[in-house]
Amino acid sequence: MNCRNRRIQITLLHHFLGEVKMNKALGIDVGGTGIKGAVVDVDRGVLLTERHRIETPQPATPQTVAQTVSQIAEHFEWNGAIGCGFPAAVQQGIVRTAANIDESWIGTNGADIFSRATNQPVFLLNDADAAGMAEMRFGAGTDTDGVVMMITLGTGIGTALFSDSKLLPNTELGHLLLGELTCEQYASNAVRKKEDLSWKVWGSRLNTVLCAYHALFWPKKFIIGGGVSKKSHKFFKHLDVSAEIVVATQKNEAGIIGAAVHAFELAS
Ligand code: BGC
Repeated sequence: MNCRNRRIQITLLHHFLGEVKMNKALGIDVGGTGIKGAVVDVDRGVLLTERHRIETPQPATPQTVAQTVSQIAEHFEWNGAIGCGFPAAVQQGIVRTAANIDESWIGTNGADIFSRATNQPVFLLNDADAAGMAEMRFGAGTDTDGVVMMITLGTGIGTALFSDSKLLPNTELGHLLLGELTCEQYASNAVRKKEDLSWKVWGSRLNTVLCAYHALFWPKKFIIGGGVSKKSHKFFKHLDVSAEIVVATQKNEAGIIGAAVHAFELAS
């Protein structure tokens, strides 16, 4: 083969490799009721596989949750970085709180526990922070400067606070006290279901929570996520906090996507 042909061949090869090389990580979202995972294209913020969901074991101890996380990694035959959104304050992989998980998590190194269970490097972060990161990068928060607050409504209330797209981790505002109750005891989606609240009553409780957050942080935009955000048409009309309120565009997948991006960036 002459030099020119060889150069063309190498150029084509590089072109081909460039096209097929994709940056991926496994994202896992540990929730109060389900643990969900999927392989994520971390450059585009999209799922490359179906979500795989397993019920959260009860009690949700380090051992039982680690087993479930490892079943999810096995399901995808995954080798590589894993990001895991976790419903607690997390500092350098260490779990600091346990509102909707077993108390025995407190003080444990969750990242190490999951890394041992899966035999892969696992990076842990707060679940709402993960969802917020995905929304800021690929969803409802793209190109929004200033202060933005992501709210996840599920078993608890998760919050993620951004200033010019930079995250202040572990804000945990679901535990802010409103009178006798914390915001999540008053207005989480689990409370709506448990107390069988109408959309109007629950919407007005949520509005009180958002007004309290607004009075403290003055976000210009609230991004509302969690499964119930699919029904925003039922409760957005009861919200009148003076900030823009938008639905999370990544819906229930934001936590998985944000966790995967976080892991990919820390692992590379
Ligand atoms: C936890 C948070 C979490 C939120 C949503 C709260 O009970 O303390 O860490 O982000 O629930 O899951």
